[in-house]
Amino acid sequence: MQDKISQYTREIQAFKPASAEELETFRIKFLGTKGLIKDLFDEFKAVSPEEKRVLGKVLNEFKKQAEEKYQFLKDQFASDTGTQAADLDLSLPGEGFETGARHPLSLVRREIIEIFKKLGFTVAEGPEIEDDWHNFSALNFPEEHPARDMQDTFFVKKDAVNGDIALRTHTSSVQVRMMENGKPPFRAIMPGRVYRNEAISARAHCFFHQVEGLYVDRNVSFADLKQTLFYFVQEMFGEGTKVRFRPSYFPFTEPSAEMDISCTICGGAGCPMCKYSGWVEILGCGMVDPNVLENCGIDNAEFTGFAFGMGIERITNLKYQIKDLRLFSENDVRFLKQFQSEII
Ligand code: PHE
Repeated sequence: MQDKISQYTREIQAFKPASAEELETFRIKFLGTKGLIKDLFDEFKAVSPEEKRVLGKVLNEFKKQAEEKYQFLKDQFASDTGTQAADLDLSLPGEGFETGARHPLSLVRREIIEIFKKLGFTVAEGPEIEDDWHNFSALNFPEEHPARDMQDTFFVKKDAVNGDIALRTHTSSVQVRMMENGKPPFRAIMPGRVYRNEAISARAHCFFHQVEGLYVDRNVSFADLKQTLFYFVQEMFGEGTKVRFRPSYFPFTEPSAEMDISCTICGGAGCPMCKYSGWVEILGCGMVDPNVLENCGIDNAEFTGFAFGMGIERITNLKYQIKDLRLFSENDVRFLKQFQSEII
């Protein structure tokens, strides 16, 4: 009986059915009501009690093995159903697969980064949840400045050590982190998401994206700022695009300016996009206020710098003539699919 079991075991182990029919034959042969395992159990009844003790275990083990093998093969055939070569109709048209597209904001962010890379700017990032110091105080915001107001800022909580914790309202906070943690010269751009407590409409959203730029070194002047931004505009919107600077105010830059470019739609002749002025504003900029340098531990007698900040949505709107900001966050594939690009 031992010999038979060994022989059957080898047979079962080597068994590889080519079809479900072969597997069924296997089942009948070994596991069927008149199968070989049934015969072995009949034989078992007749052996002596001493032999039974040993053989019982072996026989049960063998039966279990046969059942497991059968179950395994059965499952395999079940999961294969439908993919058998014979079931395939090769004359059917294939199922086309749709390629995705990058989000327009990602494309434009990438383009901005590539342009500034050519001028030697690196890329830095910072946290979206900021403390009062990095978002406001270090940037020279007076205590009572309206930008700290509940209207603009999403406050998260009040921390005993760090004061107000809020969603950053601009990427200028990353300037502070960079200057605090390093030594000049600094030449970096800082892309990221920012939050403002505004009612959502075609022209405003409670979150959007900015790219901040910072350049700090010895002898950095407003002329460097102008040339850097002029180069950016030529690369981004095409050669011949004009720029102009208007005096402005930011707590963290002195002097400060807003920069306009000649309207990308009408070329300056006047159209609804530029409200018939021929110009559209694209960013804020200025020379880093000496107080900010000092707040970040940089000697403002030795170093000067410029900074600028632009909204990626605004640049994208101009580039692709998008008139409603909400489209960027609605995930409508009909909108998103239009922005196929070579940039992967
Ligand atoms: N942080 C400013 C804003 O959010 C933009 C800015 C950045 C202006 C750097 C000047 C210098 O509007």
